[in-house]
Amino acid sequence: MPVAGLAVRSLFGDYRVELAESPGFVGELAALPQSFVIVDENVWRCHRDGVLRPLADADVHVLPIAEQRKVLASVEELYAAMTARAAKRNTTVISIGGGITQDLTGFLASTIYRGVPWIFVPTTLLAQADSCIGSKTSLNFRQFKNLIGTLYPPERVLVYPGFVATQEEEDYFSGLGEVLKLHLIGGEEAAAVYAREAPALTGRRPAAVGDAVWRSLEIKRAFIEEDERDTGRRRWLNFGHCFGHALESASDFALPHGQAVVAGMILAGLVARARGRLSAATEERLRRALLRPALVVPPDRLALDADTVIGAMGQDKKRTGPKLALVMLYDGFAMEVVDDLGEDEAREALRELQGVL
Ligand SMILES: NC(=O)c1ccc[n+]([C@@H]2O[C@H](COP(=O)([O-])OP(=O)(O)OC[C@H]3O[C@@H](n4cnc5c(N)ncnc54)[C@H](O)[C@@H]3O)[C@@H](O)[C@H]2O)c1
Ligand SMILES: [Zn+2]
Repeated sequence: MPVAGLAVRSLFGDYRVELAESPGFVGELAALPQSFVIVDENVWRCHRDGVLRPLADADVHVLPIAEQRKVLASVEELYAAMTARAAKRNTTVISIGGGITQDLTGFLASTIYRGVPWIFVPTTLLAQADSCIGSKTSLNFRQFKNLIGTLYPPERVLVYPGFVATQEEEDYFSGLGEVLKLHLIGGEEAAAVYAREAPALTGRRPAAVGDAVWRSLEIKRAFIEEDERDTGRRRWLNFGHCFGHALESASDFALPHGQAVVAGMILAGLVARARGRLSAATEERLRRALLRPALVVPPDRLALDADTVIGAMGQDKKRTGPKLALVMLYDGFAMEVVDDLGEDEAREALRELQGVL
């Protein structure tokens, strides 16, 4: 049963995130009348005889998961499956899975009958700590990632940290990269808590994961809600993503997103150091104590062609001027979004990266 709740205010309707220490909520979901339950196929395989046992086979639509399947055709399959089960306007979509499941089923719930109630149970660290709030649903179109989408928050988000135990190592650490990012932009105290908890988090201890998920959501919520007053601080959420997206794209998306973000935060630190805004000692301490231990992909997978990476940075959606944009963390945990990153500076940081990993 839920042990803690977090209310998120949103222009699209307020909603609640509930943290469940035990999986009793699954029985409650199974008993809801008028629902359409969609479960990520790997989650179903790993948990159908455990946590998800209260859900009957016949009542579950099992969803095959792959980034290439995050497209309109998969949503059409879901429209067909849902209407075949005689869904009505008041049918609640219940979806259980990671960010891909969230994007596909959120899009489904926001469009079928022009919107039906939706309950989301995130099963990856990334979805629990980061993507489950923020109201975005996104689909890929041709080569364009997340081109199509709606803004549609779930009515309820139920977080059970025990799910992450069965995630693949790289996927779990990809989520940990986003957790670390949120703690760094959360300020010195949050970063110190992360440092203390890091061994328990890399060991996936459920209590530590639950606490880190909660802190991450509280930090992210503050940025999202504040943005309604348009302070621009929401862009800090993009820390590590300027270089990160470019590395991801230069690797043909072989690098897990959150791992590319960790490398992106290291690169931003190198630029800040070169600009004299982050002392060499602090840059090295953050990198060695926090960032490097969160990287599990071998360094050679980050050794990507600099021209390709820089070309990809120029195409970043968030780019605003003739030069490149970068979110920077300075001494004293001050943050700034600069729009004047030069190509030569970016190239120098990429050159340095291999030597510091
Ligand atoms: N809507 C948003 O705001 C938002 C934000 C960030 C990312 N995203 C999207 O999220 C996606 C990435 O999501 P993700 O990292 O959560 O994972 P995912 O949904 O891509 O799943 C990764 C893999 O883990 C499996 N899986 C999921 N939960 C599992 C579990 N508990 N045990 C074992 N296997 C499990 C899945 O079947 C899949 O094979 C991307 O498509 C990204 O664009 C969306
Ligand atoms: Zn991200």
